Amino acid sequence: MAKPQRHVFICTQNRPPEHPRGSCAAKGSSAVLQAFWAELQKRQAYEKIAVTYSGCLGPCDLGANVLVYPERVLYRGVTPADVDEIFTSHLEGGTPVERLIAADAIW
Ligand code: FES
Repeated sequence: MAKPQRHVFICTQNRPPEHPRGSCAAKGSSAVLQAFWAELQKRQAYEKIAVTYSGCLGPCDLGANVLVYPERVLYRGVTPADVDEIFTSHLEGGTPVERLIAADAIW
């Protein structure tokens, strides 16, 4: 397997509905993960980009959260509708999607 240029981690942490921290799963992160996998397949980008689901990344109330390395960019409030833009602009184009980036004070 080739070393990817970028690695995307999608938080799919789940918690009970009454949990005070909430969770990315409750905010639709499974659909976000599926959208990343579908886009990866559509673009046949397996040699350049890795997509992995993860546990909690920290700021649960902002989910669904997506972390991209090597830039260390945390996207918050991601929906499936954002995935095409993240792929085109950041993962393939190298320019992060500013409107989705979590504030520095958050992460
Ligand atoms: S549950 Fe996703 S960041 Fe905590």
